[in-house]
Amino acid sequence: MVNKNITSIDDLSVKDINLISNQAIKFKNSKKIQVAKNSKNIFNLFLEPSTRTTVSFELAAKKLGYNSININFEKSSLSKGETFTDTMNTLISMKPDALIIRDKTNFSPQNISKHLNIPVINAGDGTNEHPTQALLDFCVIKSIYKNKKISIGLCGDIKHSRVAHSNIKLFTKLGYKLHLIAPSYFIDKNEVNKINPNIIYHKNLKKINDLDVLMMLRVQKERIPKNGKNMMNSFKKDYCLLSEHLSSKPYLMHPGPVNRNIEISDNVLDNYPKSLILNQVEMGVYLRMACLKYLLK
Ligand code: CP
Repeated sequence: MVNKNITSIDDLSVKDINLISNQAIKFKNSKKIQVAKNSKNIFNLFLEPSTRTTVSFELAAKKLGYNSININFEKSSLSKGETFTDTMNTLISMKPDALIIRDKTNFSPQNISKHLNIPVINAGDGTNEHPTQALLDFCVIKSIYKNKKISIGLCGDIKHSRVAHSNIKLFTKLGYKLHLIAPSYFIDKNEVNKINPNIIYHKNLKKINDLDVLMMLRVQKERIPKNGKNMMNSFKKDYCLLSEHLSSKPYLMHPGPVNRNIEISDNVLDNYPKSLILNQVEMGVYLRMACLKYLLK
C-alpha cells in the first residue's frame, strides 16, 4: 500500500481537507480525547527555528498517546558536519512511524518521502509550502463561518511565504474568493496565476474593507536579499496595519511570528478585538492531532 503524506496541499483532496478539518474541530470541542491503544514514534526534525509548529506537533502526538522525539539542528550531529543523507539513514534505522520535517530547502520533505515507506509531514520547506499552517488557518475560519465561501485577503511578503503558497492552494481548491495585497517586490504574479488565474490583486490596503478575513504575512527577513532593508522600510511605511485601516472590522489573522510594527502595529496586535492570531496557535495543536490521526490510522 502507498503511504499517505502531507508534504503539500497538492497531496490532499477536498474530501481529505474536510475530513481533517472536521476532525480537528471535533478534537477542539472534545472534553476528553481517547488515547491510541498502540503507541507510535513520531520524529520531529526541525532544521529551521520554530515555536508554534514544533510545540504543537509535540503536544499533538502526546495528546494522542504517541511518543514525540524532537531533533533540532543545533543538538544533532548535522551541526558536527554529518551529511543530511547520513542523518536521515540514522534516523530511519530507528524505525519511526512518521517523520515531520522543517527544512530551509524547497521540496526537501517531498524528496525524502519518495525514499520512505512511512508518512512524512512538511512542517515548512523554504519558500515553498507549510500545508499544516494552511489547514489550521482553514479550521479557524471554518469554526466561525462553517462552509460559507467568504472573501479572504492575504497581505505582505507573498513571494517568500510558504504559508501564503499553501493557503492560496487550499482556498483555491475549496472555491473561496482570494485577494492578494502586496507591493510588486513581494509578489510573483506569474507563479500565483499558475495556481489560480482568478485571484484579485491590490497594491494598497484600501480594499481590505471588502474582506471578511485579512491575513497578514510575516516579512521573511531571512529569505529576502541582503540589500532588502529598503524593502522592509518601504513595506512598513505603506502596509503596516494600523487601527485606521480596520474600520469595517474584518477578522485578523497572522501565522506568526509577527514582526511588530512591520506587518502589524503594536496597537492593533495588542488591542484589536477581532484578532484570531492566538486562536490560530490553539487550533494548531488540534489540527496536527487530526493530521497524525489521518496518516496513522
Ligand atoms: N507559523 C509558524 O510556522 O510558526 P513557527 O515558525 O513558530 O513554527
